[in-house]
Amino acid sequence: MKAVTIVPGKANSAALQEVREPSQAEGDVLVRGLALGICGTDFELISAEYGWAPPGSSHLILGHESLGRVEDAPSNSGFQKGDLVVGIVRRPDPVPCVGCAVGQWDMCRNGQYTERGIKERNGFGSELWRNESNFTVKLEPHLGNLGVLMEPASILAKAWDHIARIGQRAEWKPKNVLVTGAGPIGLLGALMGKQHGLEVHVLDRVTEGLKPELVSELGAEYHTGRVKQLKFSPDIIIECTGVAEVIVDSLDKVGSDGILCLAGVSSHGQKDTLDVGCLNRKLVLENGVVFGTVNANRHHYELAQKSLCQADQGWLSKLITRRVPLERWEEALKRGADDIKVVLEFSKN
Ligand code: BGC
Repeated sequence: MKAVTIVPGKANSAALQEVREPSQAEGDVLVRGLALGICGTDFELISAEYGWAPPGSSHLILGHESLGRVEDAPSNSGFQKGDLVVGIVRRPDPVPCVGCAVGQWDMCRNGQYTERGIKERNGFGSELWRNESNFTVKLEPHLGNLGVLMEPASILAKAWDHIARIGQRAEWKPKNVLVTGAGPIGLLGALMGKQHGLEVHVLDRVTEGLKPELVSELGAEYHTGRVKQLKFSPDIIIECTGVAEVIVDSLDKVGSDGILCLAGVSSHGQKDTLDVGCLNRKLVLENGVVFGTVNANRHHYELAQKSLCQADQGWLSKLITRRVPLERWEEALKRGADDIKVVLEFSKN
């Protein structure tokens, strides 16, 4: 079968290769791959800034934003042939740490977790893949090919879940949220902000086109320019760009008793100046919280599915700006100026 592979640590090594079909040891559910979402982490993997091959192998099958259809599953697995599914990305560490021990692998304390398509486990970028039934999520059939948005949505579902939990530390009635970055992560974060009943603001450097349109269709307000130029102090900021200047501005801009959630992974070597004294005074005197968030556990996939099902399906489908067939796989792995979410299609059904 065909799979998109990379050699971790070797830049631009992506290839479409014939590989062995997955063995039973990789999971009890056999899935025909339908689609794979491509994200910033995949670009980091391709440029050898990140990523680890499975032990004993030089290659890693790429892909963590999956969508597939069950080909075969044991009768007691909860899955049957034809089910639309996505695979959960992370697996708990073998120790396990306190988080992994209770199914909160997204909070792994010792870094010994593995991740499909990223860290020491092959990903979902192949015509067939296997997955453990307890790390597989069944999708509502009507989500169809929008199900490929489940994994990125799970990341934002976790971010919102943790924002709400942190907010519970005291009486808290947030009115607004600022999302920085109108890529797929930012837009899904904005969607969930609306679903939480908040006034939503999205800031991006792009001045026209689909991003402002999608934000306005959501009933949210679109901004360009610097965060520090905004004329209000957000109760919540979800930072999705990973850009140093945006992060520094956001630290300063977040409102009193506010929460700044860092959800974008920065590239290395971005320097900026920060008055630590000033930052400390602000956070202490205004009860500020800054926290980071990564990955998602099963609960977050469930929340993500609810959110995607409640969303306008037409709006969601506009997030997918390119669908590239497997024969032209290389095009999916190149960034385009107008891309929001690019999907590599393995099979139509
Ligand atoms: C994935 C997460 C993963 C993270 C770090 C992200 O792109 O969506 O599931 O935990 O990268 O490897």
